[in-house]
Amino acid sequence: MGIYEKYAEVYDSSGQIGFSLRMIPYLQELLDRHPVEKGHMLDLACGTGTVAMSFASNGWDVWGVDASSEMLAQAERKGHDSGLTLRLSCQDMRRFTIPASVRLVTCLYDSMNYILTLPGLQAVLKRVVAHLAPGGLFLFDMNTAWALEHVWDHHTFLMEDDDLSLIMASEYDEAQLLGTISVTGFVRRGTLYERFSETHIEQAYSENEIRSAISVAGLRLVACYDCFDFDPPAEDCSRIMWVASKIEE
Ligand SMILES: C[S@@+](CC[C@H](N)C(=O)[O-])C[C@H]1O[C@@H](n2cnc3c(N)ncnc32)[C@H](O)[C@@H]1O
Repeated sequence: MGIYEKYAEVYDSSGQIGFSLRMIPYLQELLDRHPVEKGHMLDLACGTGTVAMSFASNGWDVWGVDASSEMLAQAERKGHDSGLTLRLSCQDMRRFTIPASVRLVTCLYDSMNYILTLPGLQAVLKRVVAHLAPGGLFLFDMNTAWALEHVWDHHTFLMEDDDLSLIMASEYDEAQLLGTISVTGFVRRGTLYERFSETHIEQAYSENEIRSAISVAGLRLVACYDCFDFDPPAEDCSRIMWVASKIEE
């Protein structure tokens, strides 16, 4: 069974939208520090489109790519309801192509951790380079091994309201640096509840692996920050925001 299928419908209302709402002002601060000219931008693994919509409402021409048609359907609906144009496409980010050169690519909320091999990570970075204009910026955040070990391992999260009950139980495999979350939801349908369940797997990479993948792809590492802050990542940093740019010819 795939992921972000049934979960897509309740993704925002389950509280996940909170991450994007926190990310939007942080992205603005990042762009103040690392400015790029406004134009076309791409939100990779755009999910339900909250960040993509914020860029569109700020005058960017926005593209969104995601592997889940159900997540994209939510983004499409939200964009339509807000009168915003989002050019959305259902593709795997390891192989995506869009008919545009963009000045900014974002890939947020540990979406890059869903790429489970280094060659896969490298493939995403190469596709990003192929679409970035010279000098363009790639901003992506990733969970660290510290987060998977200290936040995910043996952790259970429960949320419940009148329309939804959600249980998220996570584990960490220290040998493989792999985090696994089982998501089980009960969505209200009238007087009954429909059950769904999905298993999500995230891979952690060392800082050196990510630095080297960035450089091999032909990107220049501009900065890396303890995410939502501007300090360098410490040993116990749970999420790193990576800032890379395409080298100008
Ligand atoms: C945690 S969600 C984040 C969504 C959005 N970026 C946000 O901030 O809310 C992860 C997203 O990555 C997408 N995803 C995972 N693997 C992918 C792949 N190989 N190619 C494209 N999208 C992928 C999922 O469909 C999902 O929408």
